[in-house]
Amino acid sequence: MTSPPPLESRLATSLEQFRAEGVYKRLNFIESPQNARVKMEGRGEVIILSSNNYLGLCAEPEVIEAGKAALDQYGAGTASVRFICGTFTIHREVEAALARLVGTPASLTFASCWNANEALPTTLLTDQDLVLSDRLNHASIIDAIRLAKAITKCQTGIYEHKDLGDLDAKLAAGKDRQVKLVITDGVFSMEGAIADLPGLLEVCRKHGAVLVVDDSHATGVLGPTGRGTAEHFGMVGQVDIITSTLGKALGGAAGGFVGASEAVCDYLTQRSRPQLFSNALPATVAASALASVTYLESHPERVARLRDNARYFRRRLTDLGLKPLAGETPIIPVIIGETAAAMRMSELLLDEHVFVTGFGYPVVPQGTARVRCQISAVHSREDLDQALAAFSKVGRKLGLI
Ligand SMILES: Cc1ncc(COP(=O)(O)O)c(C=O)c1O
Repeated sequence: MTSPPPLESRLATSLEQFRAEGVYKRLNFIESPQNARVKMEGRGEVIILSSNNYLGLCAEPEVIEAGKAALDQYGAGTASVRFICGTFTIHREVEAALARLVGTPASLTFASCWNANEALPTTLLTDQDLVLSDRLNHASIIDAIRLAKAITKCQTGIYEHKDLGDLDAKLAAGKDRQVKLVITDGVFSMEGAIADLPGLLEVCRKHGAVLVVDDSHATGVLGPTGRGTAEHFGMVGQVDIITSTLGKALGGAAGGFVGASEAVCDYLTQRSRPQLFSNALPATVAASALASVTYLESHPERVARLRDNARYFRRRLTDLGLKPLAGETPIIPVIIGETAAAMRMSELLLDEHVFVTGFGYPVVPQGTARVRCQISAVHSREDLDQALAAFSKVGRKLGLI
């Protein structure tokens, strides 16, 4: 008998270990649109509290219709990259709308926000420069910076989470660097915490640094009309560079963008590798995203409803005796501790027809595994109350309350 090749056998051992430790991720298959409730294969109707569909636009008729019309007008594919085979006019339209929404002079779309984040430091920096990142930034930012270091030989560093003193000291230590880039999440996805934008801007201005805010969990969510972290703090137009996704509140399909000056967007068009060597955003997705922006601009009550729902759910979880992290965003993590325990809670909640994902190491630090609830504007009070009843039952079963 021949022994399995080393790669296959190594992977098989690791996968077996994930299963034995109770940290194996099992995929759940959904047969209906993302909405407050979904049809899950083998489970029937399930309340989904684990989706980034913050405004419920995944299933909004206007958003779906816009995608269908674009399929008819532009066909199924982009067929290659923009500068080689042409840019669809819908790309120009959605980029104008996204710039308007986030309050930057221009914007440039990518096939994902991962790509948008990856494009920034790898394209804009040189070996004369420095990039600093919040310790709890999203994986796409972390990997972008690792790549930038390898490609450009820029200096890199991490400042402690939301620690302006540490950022100030690290920028002071890098005063000889030509360009200093500071990157932060607007809303930290595993905590639901909001970046201290006024503080960050003050420190960045003091040191002549450029501030980049990844608003993936803030676009459509924060601020009275959903324009993001800047609107939340009354500072629209003041952030140098904003990145965000189209894969969450803005229709939820896929795609991302950089909102910045004309020069930054033009330079990324000329030189960024995810733009030059990868297909453009599909026209259908661009059209749905454009319809999402238009919808958001004319329905601020959706954003208000999202905020009300999040406040209600957080308060009622606390009333049950659970300990959600405090905050104002619709990301509501309940810390459980060990990864296997968080995964177990998630399984038990699914048995009660409530879909909430458990997150553990290495996504979050050891010992801080959690189930992370994400509330949507389209959850009704009945949806939320039914989910709370499930939390109460499972919480008691696990001895958490
Ligand atoms: C903060 C943040 N940035 C970037 C991304 C990546 O977005 P996309 O799915 O568009 O690549 C995510 C997705 O989870 C995110 O939470």
